[in-house]
Amino acid sequence: MKNAIRGTIVSFKNDPFRSEEKDFLYHEEDGLVVMEDGKITDVGPAIDLLGKLDPSVEVTHYPDALIMPGFIDCHVHYPQTEIIGAFGKQLIDWLNKYTFVAEQKFKDYSHAEMTANLFLREALASGTTTASVFCTVDPVSVDAFFEQSIKAGMRNIAGKVLMDRNAPPELLDTAQSGYDQTKALIEKWHGKDRSLYSVTPRFAPTSTPEQMELAGAVWKEHPGTYLQTHISENLNEIEWVKELFPEATGYLDVYEKFGQIGPRSILGHGVHLTEAEFQRLSETGTALAHCPTSNLFLGSGLFNVENATREVRPVRVGLATDLGAGTSFSQLSTMGEAYKVAQLNGYALSAFHAFYLATRGAAKALYLEDTIGSIQVGMEADIIVLDLKASDLLEHRLKYAKNLHDILFVLMTLALPQNVKATYIAGKPAALRDEETGKMKFLSL
Ligand code: GUN
Ligand code: ZN
Repeated sequence: MKNAIRGTIVSFKNDPFRSEEKDFLYHEEDGLVVMEDGKITDVGPAIDLLGKLDPSVEVTHYPDALIMPGFIDCHVHYPQTEIIGAFGKQLIDWLNKYTFVAEQKFKDYSHAEMTANLFLREALASGTTTASVFCTVDPVSVDAFFEQSIKAGMRNIAGKVLMDRNAPPELLDTAQSGYDQTKALIEKWHGKDRSLYSVTPRFAPTSTPEQMELAGAVWKEHPGTYLQTHISENLNEIEWVKELFPEATGYLDVYEKFGQIGPRSILGHGVHLTEAEFQRLSETGTALAHCPTSNLFLGSGLFNVENATREVRPVRVGLATDLGAGTSFSQLSTMGEAYKVAQLNGYALSAFHAFYLATRGAAKALYLEDTIGSIQVGMEADIIVLDLKASDLLEHRLKYAKNLHDILFVLMTLALPQNVKATYIAGKPAALRDEETGKMKFLSL
């Protein structure tokens, strides 16, 4: 099926941390995006493209809106949907009191399926079209997730959590069973439709050295798969890692010793990394997922995005919600919080930088920048439409916006749920906001 959408297009061609606005920004005031067989087949000024488009092709016009690439969430836990907003604890206590209780329910396929379905609908409603997702230790939690993801037609990354110590017995695998289950899940899901598998040791404290060794091995044995974990989120966690792995020179060195860093390794947080660790992340092409709402919520600290992306040793950074420690599905809200965290570090993160971190920059962190994350010919057609008249306040405020940067910055600051008017997955509408009720209608889930 061939179809097209018309409106103001905003996308990134290059990295705003490295180039000038004229080089990084693609901005077409009245543009057209033509899509066929899941991909973008033409993009440009509507006036040029409409004339050569076969009249049988349906064109949906979105005035007073921005057409953008779908948001990419580089680190999120779908089983934690039921514990968003759990009061009063920092990381380790929060894990024990809330997370490890909720995750035990995911041995039940129907609970996992129901949650995965809700999670993906919320993601689509928030304009997120790809995510790198932690399931739980139970393989059925992965089956349920990928089944729903495939139903939605999405390109998602996910994997079974590996944990063989320091968690309740109901949530533990063993080094060998974790390896065997991971291998079987890779064979079942990696490359099925748009699904990608991620080897998922939760974090160094919950895996023995034997499990860490086998996690690195299974990742290496399956080129093209991902590895995701957490690093240097909380100061007590870092001390604990030092006690558990005394022979390592630091937190990152634990992952390095077990062959877990390099391209397609995505480390969540990195709030308290050392300069030597940033250097090593840069050299090895390992990515960081910046999770501002989570870091604020758990009182973990302030990630320094300016430092992480420094030109002398740039680290690939993508934005992430980290639900359920994170507090919103919306990458718009997450951008707004990233701005505030940067402010507290003495740095003003521009809206261009923030939107880049949730689109093309996130795709680059995931080594998917040739596939998703921008509106260009040949890219997969995961596209969102952001409503610039989503509320009276927004409409009023945007009357005083002087340029595109102002518009984007107001969108991420107000971050209204109803900003997302439509989400297209592989060229087809997957979520559309009902004009009358204001609610999202889901076409695939
Ligand atoms: N570190 C290890 N597991 C988790 C988790 O589930 N959430 C967060 N925020 N940090 C973690
Ligand atoms: Zn996390």
